This record gives sequence, structure tokens and C-alpha cells, in this order.
Amino acid sequence: MQNKSSILIALAVVLAAGVAPVVAAENDKAKELTGRDVVFDRSKGNCLTCHGIPSDPEAVAPGNAALPFFAMKGRFPDRAKLRAQIWDATAANPNSIMPPFGKHQILTEHEVDLVTDYVQGL
Ligand code: HEC
Repeated sequence: MQNKSSILIALAVVLAAGVAPVVAAENDKAKELTGRDVVFDRSKGNCLTCHGIPSDPEAVAPGNAALPFFAMKGRFPDRAKLRAQIWDATAANPNSIMPPFGKHQILTEHEVDLVTDYVQGL
């Protein structure tokens, strides 16, 4: 009896170990974030609260506390400068109302990179 349950437990462990990586990979794939996701997500970038995106019809009812994202490549040819603005707006303007997304860990390094690339393309 004891042997049988030990074998069952061992079998369950082996099965779980085999299945877990597959499930994890599927999940990663399903929720692979884009810069646009981060910008639109209210619990992440929430950029639309203050910035419009005139080229995106799904960016409805944005705020206008700041310039909309347009002609970004021309206005921010230097990616590092754009990233720095998103990382910590208070570095350029100590009175900025824009949240310091990187510095305060509102977004991860990776998310700031995704957002920078997406915004630079607008
Ligand atoms: C609470 C309002 C607010 C939010 C939310 C916000 N910003 Fe800003 N943003 C500003 C303001 C205000 C400025 C003008 C410069 C300053 O005061 O820092 C600005 C400036 C910028 C600039 C420079 C714009 C230009 O055209 O010169 C960029 C780029 C930018 N924000 C990106 C973002 C991104 C990306 C997000 C989301 C991850 C975001 N902002 C979220 C308020 C905000």
C-alpha cells in the first residue's frame, strides 16, 4: 500500500516537472507585452491620461496635460534622450507632473525599453 502511493507520488512529480515548462512557455507567449500595451494599460504606463496619440484611433479620450505623441522620431532622434524622459521626467524638469516611470519602478527596465521604441515610432 505504501509502496503504491509512493509510486503514484513519484509519477505525479515526474509528470508535473515535464508539463510545467511547457505551460510556462505557453503563458509567456500569450502575454508577451508590446510597448503599445504598456502605454495603454492604466495600471502600467497610463500615458493616455496626459498624452494623446493622434495617429491611433483607439487612443480615445486622452488627456491633454502634455503634448500628444506625434513626429517623435523627428523631435527625439536620440533614443537615449527619449528613454531618459520616460525613465525620469523630473531629471529634465524637477516640477514635472509626469511620473518617473523607471526611477520609481512603475515600469521595469524592459517595459521602459518597449515603451521607448513604440513611442519613438509614433
Ligand atoms: C500625469 C501626466 C503624465 C503622464 C501619465 C505621462 N506624462 Fe509624459 N509628460 C507629461 C508632461 C506634463 C510633459 C511635459 C514635460 C514635463 O513637464 O516633464 C511630458 C512629456 C513627455 C515627453 C516629452 C514630450 C515632448 O513632446 O516633448 C515624452 C516623450 C513623454 N512625456 C512620454 C510619456 C510616456 C511614454 C508616458 C507613459 C509611460 C507618459 N509620458 C506619461 C505628463 C505626463
